[in-house]
Amino acid sequence: MRFEEFLRKVPKVELHCHFEGTVRASTFADLAKRHGIALPTGDVSKLYDYATIYEFLDIFALVSSTLVDREDFARVAYESLEDGVTLGNLRYREMFFNPTLHTRRGIRIATVLDGMIDGIRQAETDLGVQCRLIADVYRQDEPATARQMVEEVVELRRPEVIGLGMDGAESPDSPERFVEAFALAARNGLRLTSHACEDGPPENVTTCLDLLGCERIDHGYHVLESPEVTARCRDEGIYFTCCPTSTSVVYGWTDLRTHPIRDMVDAGLRVTLNSDDPTMFRTDIGSEYADLCMALHYDVAQVRRFVFDGIEATWLDDSDKTSLRRAFSDELEHLERQLEAT
Ligand code: ADE
Ligand code: ZN
Repeated sequence: MRFEEFLRKVPKVELHCHFEGTVRASTFADLAKRHGIALPTGDVSKLYDYATIYEFLDIFALVSSTLVDREDFARVAYESLEDGVTLGNLRYREMFFNPTLHTRRGIRIATVLDGMIDGIRQAETDLGVQCRLIADVYRQDEPATARQMVEEVVELRRPEVIGLGMDGAESPDSPERFVEAFALAARNGLRLTSHACEDGPPENVTTCLDLLGCERIDHGYHVLESPEVTARCRDEGIYFTCCPTSTSVVYGWTDLRTHPIRDMVDAGLRVTLNSDDPTMFRTDIGSEYADLCMALHYDVAQVRRFVFDGIEATWLDDSDKTSLRRAFSDELEHLERQLEAT
């Protein structure tokens, strides 16, 4: 087996993937037609073309607006997990979704959640992949809107929802605006993470860790601009959920050989690999491993570090982590033998 094929076949967890960013272009077009929503182009291959994070977020909102019925949410959740399994041997995902992109259009949060849960359960039955959910604060919302979203999520008490995160454009809105929303989530037993240092300064990581109480950091590249914050994250073993492709498209790190992920690994930070918004960035979790590890000539030992750090960074309990570690170890040994045989 060639190394690239090995990389696609390695069993994986994924901790940074947005539900609304996993809609297949063909499904986006189909749902838009069904619900009478106008699209900027009739050419399905051009639906996901954009150059900046702001253009990206506009299309992200347009995709979200085509999700209306419980069945739409179920279909997208199922297809999203199916793509992860088929294209990258995905076994477990903690997946973001943006409640307020739906509730502000009058969709009930129960419709959003129960639809996604239908799709997740069907995918587990059919494909053996597991998925849990993380509700994301949308940074461009008002703090009171974010707080209310957390209240609604907590009130519904769906066991699949295990955490609170935060996304949207980082530069205009600093993380401390949402301290109340995060405190409320923590009081109600949700785990915490946040996008930070995607295009914002290292202080955003400090704020997310110290003020919001986050356990993980999503992206994190600009942390390297501060030796102090970098050292702190290394010493505390903070996990970073990094996304090679999405950041190359919207932040211009087009050459994976010099992507900051390389420097984060070299600095001793704990990095996991993820696809962010796979269909919207024309990628998948298999390609993220294949493209980055091939570009940086990483060896099997580094691939194992990505995979097992991914398991450690999940919010599964210890016994579930142990089962996943065992299953992944067996499968990796088998795959490594096939790699050696060629
Ligand atoms: N929403 C979906 N993906 C995102 C990203 N990578 N950064 C900020 N907001 C997002
Ligand atoms: Zn993201």
